[in-house]
Amino acid sequence: MEVERLTVQTTTRSPRRWILLASALGSMSLVVALMAATAPPVQAQAAVGVPQFNRACGRCHPNGDEDTGPDLHNKNLSVEAMTKVIRQGTKRMRPIAPTKLTDADLARVMTFLRSIHAVR
Ligand code: HEC
Repeated sequence: MEVERLTVQTTTRSPRRWILLASALGSMSLVVALMAATAPPVQAQAAVGVPQFNRACGRCHPNGDEDTGPDLHNKNLSVEAMTKVIRQGTKRMRPIAPTKLTDADLARVMTFLRSIHAVR
């Protein structure tokens, strides 16, 4: 009731405001629709974790490719195995501690790794 009365009051006071709001919402949904049409979800997902990967791993696995470290594409490791490699290291790869790469950033890196099928 209270809300209805308020709405009615505002509407009667300044109907133009509502017209402006409606047209603003209209153009916003047009923009959203255009964005959805031009950016496939796969690309949006791949972009997640790229900066974090570049920072923590890119020096030795640039873009997931071979350099100091091996090519990570299609490694198809489990998330557990990948987490173990990152947190505990291997013979030649040093462990990366949460102080260097937080769990939240590790999760973002994992999203990137999934996009190149390094993890399944
Ligand atoms: C300072 C260089 C360096 C950095 C930084 C680095 N790696 Fe590595 N990585 C290596 C090397 C060298 C190897 C080969 C390890 C070996 O043979 O023992 C390797 C191996 C791996 C492997 C393969 C392990 C296996 O058993 O097949 C994975 C997966 C991997 N790295 C992921 C990552 C990820 C993800 C990051 C970032 C979070 C990262 N690495 C950061 C150097 C690095």
